[in-house]
Amino acid sequence: MSTSIPLTRPDDWHLHLRDGAMLKAVLPETARDFARAIIMPNLVPPVVTGADAAAYRDRILAALPEGMAFEPLMTLYLTEDTDPEDVAAAHASGLVKAVKLYPAGATTNSASGVRDFDRVRGVLEKMAEIGLTLCVHGEVTDSDIDIFDREAVFIDRVLDPVRRATPGLRVVMEHITTRNGVDYVRSNDEGLGGTITTHHLIINRNHILVGGIKPHYYCLPVAKREEHRLALRAAATSGDARFFLGTDSAPHTDANKETACGCAGCFTATNTMPLLAHVFEEEGALDKLEAFASKNGPAFYRLPENADTITLIKQDEPVAFPDKIETGEGPVTVFDPGFPVFWKVA
Ligand code: NCD
Ligand code: ZN
Repeated sequence: MSTSIPLTRPDDWHLHLRDGAMLKAVLPETARDFARAIIMPNLVPPVVTGADAAAYRDRILAALPEGMAFEPLMTLYLTEDTDPEDVAAAHASGLVKAVKLYPAGATTNSASGVRDFDRVRGVLEKMAEIGLTLCVHGEVTDSDIDIFDREAVFIDRVLDPVRRATPGLRVVMEHITTRNGVDYVRSNDEGLGGTITTHHLIINRNHILVGGIKPHYYCLPVAKREEHRLALRAAATSGDARFFLGTDSAPHTDANKETACGCAGCFTATNTMPLLAHVFEEEGALDKLEAFASKNGPAFYRLPENADTITLIKQDEPVAFPDKIETGEGPVTVFDPGFPVFWKVA
């Protein structure tokens, strides 16, 4: 017996594609199921100007295999030197769909991020005026703040003050990992959204640390206590239009993960839709999956929903996903949920 569900083709509202050989290997993993994705700009060096974004977009499209369709939605990496006029021009041309705020030092390749928020005030005001979304990596970086508290502290110290100081600014709090993040998004209406990753619906901090350290479950923001995972599940499966999928699929080679100072990032592009079907079914909310993966995101970004569909199929035998994908830089481990999955995309 198999069950099949058609779904408006989903989009990924937070994705790392990297560049070069890695880009070539990981792009088809996303393009197979997803029509569009918000492309993170944390390359080395970062994608800062409209010209950088145009060149990166061209490299992404050049890496797309023949016959596959995919639309990269480009972002700019906000620095203290970002020029509001360059941002406005990149938005007006249709190239750029969001600007990304990394607090300096918060995560992989974030050294050029913002230290002094007064220095980006002009850009934020321009963005509020033209309706361009600010995507936020919501963690403070102060060394005296515990890594498990950094998201909650960010809301009070940075996110809420920035939003109050810039009325009308549209903000996505990305990859929320806490009940605090869920509550903050829920307590605001117009102009604030929250993305949730696949893996944060599945793992809590025990998965990283119990029974030996598991580098492939380490990402930023780091997975929190079980109560937070449950809050994320409730939000994602609620149908609430403020929450939508941003996988934060973040490939690093095994050599860079399985080492004394391993990189942060889970690679979920390959099996995200089957894993989400599993999670939503577990929560008795399969009817809300389309809102989360295919409808709420375009509504927030004021883009049309995709016109075509994918089909999720549940089969009797567990689906065998690849353990790794090969890239020109070395193997990348595919996220292992730790349980059998019976769903696949037709
Ligand atoms: C991301 C990466 O590797 O670029 N890592 C991660 O753990 N999510 C950066 C990020 O989004 O924080
Ligand atoms: Zn990310």
